[in-house]
Amino acid sequence: MKDAFGLPQSLLVLGGTSEIALATARRLIARRTRTVWLAGRPSAALDRAAEDLRGIGADVRTVPFDALDPDAHEEVLGKVFADGDIDMVLLAFGVLGDQASDERDPLSAVRVAQTNYTGAVSAGLVAAGALQAQGHGSLVVLSSAAGERARRADFIYGSSKAGLDTFAQGLGDALYGTGVHVMVVRPGFVRTRGTAGLEAAPPVTTPEAVATAIELGLRRRSETVWVPGTLRLLMSALRHLPRAVFRRLPL
Ligand SMILES: NC(=O)c1ccc[n+]([C@@H]2O[C@H](COP(=O)([O-])OP(=O)(O)OC[C@H]3O[C@@H](n4cnc5c(N)ncnc54)[C@H](OP(=O)(O)O)[C@@H]3O)[C@@H](O)[C@H]2O)c1
Repeated sequence: MKDAFGLPQSLLVLGGTSEIALATARRLIARRTRTVWLAGRPSAALDRAAEDLRGIGADVRTVPFDALDPDAHEEVLGKVFADGDIDMVLLAFGVLGDQASDERDPLSAVRVAQTNYTGAVSAGLVAAGALQAQGHGSLVVLSSAAGERARRADFIYGSSKAGLDTFAQGLGDALYGTGVHVMVVRPGFVRTRGTAGLEAAPPVTTPEAVATAIELGLRRRSETVWVPGTLRLLMSALRHLPRAVFRRLPL
């Protein structure tokens, strides 16, 4: 069960090697999280992530999970929830893709869309159903500021995150009053292994800063969290710029 401050005792991460998710797990373990499930594609990196979290005192289990295999989501997540209550599900999987090559190869673009959007629709609905059945819990969804407005540089990824974001907002409304809380997290550019070498306009943030914002959002039972918080205003201004102006910006 969550404590009086809304922090979870048990956590299920979908996308168990995600740097942002692991920074979040470390932060929550330092508070009161004891049980962590890392769901992801089996790999040495997934095993290392589990070992790392065990090293700081959590009881960690891994479970095979592929966003691109929605037929298996009920069964995989069903087994996790059958083992005991889960206070928080962190939907963290996602791929950035490579905009230039994905434009030339529509099947690669579809893979980005299927991972980030339809994979999340399936896993999100299954997780939400399980949380609702137990009567409590939070579903925290890693969306992105990139979903707020289409940019020439990453509109395939951005459109998948726009779909995910709209889906998660609607799911939050559908679950309002049921005891299940959905929190949409919109980071800007986060410096990680996956984004190493990519150029980004400020503000640039870190996995640890996203983790801190997630903890605060849980405590406040927020529905939307921007990281950094200043991005909310910035994106609101950018969103209302005429397209002819927006497309000339060096973003
Ligand atoms: N980094 C940023 O700048 C940034 C900004 C805003 C939002 N986000 C979002 O935050 C989330 C986490 O990002 P991150 O920076 O922590 O990235 P990351 O370290 O690259 O993590 C991505 C995760 O997605 C998993 N994944 C990819 N395809 C999958 C599939 N088919 N099935 C299951 N898992 C799959 C990866 O697993 P494998 O180990 O199997 O590849 C990995 O665990 C993503 O949704 C990302 O879009 C990131």
